[in-house]
Amino acid sequence: MSSGGGTVLLWVLLLLVWSPAEGLDESHEDDECADLNNTTWTEYRQHRAKLQVQYLLLTRRTLDCAQKFNLESLTKHNSDFNISRPTKVIVHGYRALGSKPSWVKELGRALLRAQDANVVVVDWVYGASFAYNLVVENYKEVALQISVLINQLQKHGCRLESFHFIGVSLGAHVAGFVGTLFEGKIGRITGLDPAGPMFKGADTFDRLDPSDAQFVDAIHTDSDYFGISIPVGHVDFFLNGGKDQTGCARSRFASMYGYVICDHMRALHVYMSALNGSCPLVGIPCSTYEDFLKGTCVDCDVFKGTCPAIGLSKNSGILDSSPIPQEQKVFLLTTSSPPFCAHHILLQLEVSPLDKRAEVEVTLRTENLGTEQRLRLQTDATVYRTVLAHPAALCEISSITLKNTGAWFSRQGQIHVRSVCVSEFPSVRTEDPLCVNNFIVRRGAPWSHDFVQVCGVF
Ligand SMILES: *[C@@H]1O[C@H](CO)[C@@H](O)[C@H](O)[C@H]1NC(C)=O
Ligand SMILES: *[C@@H]1O[C@H](CO)[C@@H](O)[C@H](O)[C@H]1NC(C)=O
Ligand SMILES: *[C@@H]1O[C@H](CO)[C@@H](O)[C@H](O)[C@H]1NC(C)=O
Ligand SMILES: *[C@@H]1O[C@H](CO)[C@@H](O)[C@H](O)[C@H]1NC(C)=O
Repeated sequence: MSSGGGTVLLWVLLLLVWSPAEGLDESHEDDECADLNNTTWTEYRQHRAKLQVQYLLLTRRTLDCAQKFNLESLTKHNSDFNISRPTKVIVHGYRALGSKPSWVKELGRALLRAQDANVVVVDWVYGASFAYNLVVENYKEVALQISVLINQLQKHGCRLESFHFIGVSLGAHVAGFVGTLFEGKIGRITGLDPAGPMFKGADTFDRLDPSDAQFVDAIHTDSDYFGISIPVGHVDFFLNGGKDQTGCARSRFASMYGYVICDHMRALHVYMSALNGSCPLVGIPCSTYEDFLKGTCVDCDVFKGTCPAIGLSKNSGILDSSPIPQEQKVFLLTTSSPPFCAHHILLQLEVSPLDKRAEVEVTLRTENLGTEQRLRLQTDATVYRTVLAHPAALCEISSITLKNTGAWFSRQGQIHVRSVCVSEFPSVRTEDPLCVNNFIVRRGAPWSHDFVQVCGVF
């Protein structure tokens, strides 16, 4: 692993500005309830040598009151840990300020709503705070300590397949190393924007990879900054290309949260939303995001037609009969707020050959909103395909408008459209694309067409 000292310092400085939110337990003053620990710089310097990993247990019965969990709790008769149930292990990542991550309770609840399980939260605040490069030195030691606990749980009758690790950022690599220690026999690891800095070039032994568990899935949302840009699982979901997320500020003059970690934390928020199950978040296999946006990949035939979905379904929903892929990149577009699901609409335009370049703005309208997409037309091509994220399904599209927006007078004044078609993919049912053929779009005179359709059961 290589390190870039200057960059590390920059992140630390940036993250120091971003201030923490509330902890796991705000409602219970009760001493019985355990909480994640926090630390301060001074305390951290005293603790430094010791990692003091601690565990919290959440179950459906103890949703509002986490219990401290350790080897002794297993032998207690009143422990809420139930060896017959699957176990979810949440591993947080870098905690720049030593504060409590505000999302742990929400993730725990979302998991327990979806499945009756033991949720074990790994708290390694003393190893995970302040200098990022030291944190990276600590992560294997943390994994080793977790493996001791898992070993004990195994002795009490838990099967390795029943463990599902959910690692956030650096926590994904902690989980990956636990997986390495158990030779890939752990049931599942989910990496939520697995950390990139100091891991991208690392050996698979040192980072999360598909050999770490029977099934590894990862969600990538900030692969150009805090996240890793390479696939690390069997299935890797790249959201909006995996780099920049919709609704996250692009300007450093916006809020620090927006600029610094909004993209990185989006993986977690989308995962929680998927656990809620309000709408499907399915990915389409494709070799690059550019190809995906060009509409080159519109089905999941490589998985016998079932598209992998973010969430808890076994092997992300890929059919047992299809071979489990490795490092398969899948792409999806999302909206900017929960529940994040978007419909993928393929827009196809065919024009008669043009003398000059042109630009067309296409607007798809539903009852309440419009979605715009600009297409640049060249003189050497007549067929254009592009994919856009649409908040509503194809059957809710009530009209399409084309505007010839080429403003300069060197541009084509009149465009003969042979056909414009919109279709949704992956198709849930055999739905014909909506097409309009043979019309002219003049500059300054938008062309519009209404669709008469109903959404219903076919
Ligand atoms: C964590 O905090 C609890 C109280 O919230 C305390 O009892 C415990 O000793 C702390 N753990 C460590 C390792 O400091
Ligand atoms: C740490 O948590 C305790 C309560 O658990 C709180 O009183 C204290 O202010 C927190 N310290 C920091 C630095 O957040
Ligand atoms: C443990 O979980 C199993 C399976 O969900 C359930 O049948 C059993 O009643 C649970 N045991 C206790 C003590 O809650
Ligand atoms: C999940 O559902 C719960 C309860 O309906 C809601 O409070 C929470 O905000 C939802 N979370 C997400 C991420 O959609």
